[in-house]
Amino acid sequence: MNRHNIFVLDFFISHRGASAIAPENTIASIALAKACGSRWVEVDVRFSKDRELIIFHDKNLFRITGVNSPVFTKNYKDLKNYDVGLWFNRSFEGERIPTLLDVLNFCNNNSINLNIEIKPEKGFEHSIGRKVKEIVNKFLFSQSCIMISSFDFKVLNQIEESEKVRKMILINRLPKKNFLESKFNFFQYFGLHLNIIDKKMVKYLVNLNKKVLVYTVNDPAKAKLLKSWGVTSVFTDLPKNFMYIKDN
Ligand code: G3P
Ligand code: MG
Repeated sequence: MNRHNIFVLDFFISHRGASAIAPENTIASIALAKACGSRWVEVDVRFSKDRELIIFHDKNLFRITGVNSPVFTKNYKDLKNYDVGLWFNRSFEGERIPTLLDVLNFCNNNSINLNIEIKPEKGFEHSIGRKVKEIVNKFLFSQSCIMISSFDFKVLNQIEESEKVRKMILINRLPKKNFLESKFNFFQYFGLHLNIIDKKMVKYLVNLNKKVLVYTVNDPAKAKLLKSWGVTSVFTDLPKNFMYIKDN
C-alpha cells in the first residue's frame, strides 16, 4: 500500500454525526451518518470535572438536557445519567453522552474515520490535548483515520501527526495578516467557517498546498460550488443529501 494514501478525506464529513436527523454527538447520530453513506464523522470532545473525555458540544448542559449547569462541574458518573436524545425526538430517548473511548470503539468496529474536535476549558488546553493524544495512540492499530481539530493552538501543539493522524486548525475569524505571514501558516489543514471564505481565499490557500475544509454546509448546491473552488471537504448536518456529490 502507498503510505501516502492512507489518510484520505471524503468530500463530506458528518457534523456531530447526522445531526439534522439524530441528536448530535451521540452513537445514534454516528450510526445514522454511516447509514447515510458517510465515512467521516466529526464529534466535539471536552473534559468532565473528573477529566473524562466526553462527547458534548456546549459548555453548558442546558440546551440538550434542560439542566442549567456547566459540563465541567459534573463528574462523568453523573453526566452519563442524562438523557441526550429526548430533546431531539422521543424516538431517541435513552441516548447517553458517550466517552471518546466509546466513540473510538464504535468507529473502529464500523469502519468510520473520526474527526475529534477538542473544546478545551481555559487552563486545560495542554492536559486535554495530551489526554486525547494518549487515547488516539491506542487506536493506531485500527483501520480508521483520525483528524484532530481545535480552535486553540495550545491544544494542537500537544498532537503529533502520523500516517493515520492529522491535525487541523479551526478558524472563525480572518487573521489580520495574510495566512502565509500569520501564525496559521504552520498548518496544512484549515477548517474555515463558511461565512469568512470566498473564492479568492480558497484558491490562495489551495495554491499554497493547504487543505481547505468548510463548516457548516447543508446546501448541496453551495457545496458543489465550494468543491469547484478547490475545497477538500465540507462539514454537513445532512449527509444523505451529499452522497451524489461524493460520487461525481
Ligand atoms: O469542526 C467544524 C465545526 O464543528 C466547528 O464548530 O461549533 O460546530 O463545533 P462547532
Ligand atoms: Mg465541532
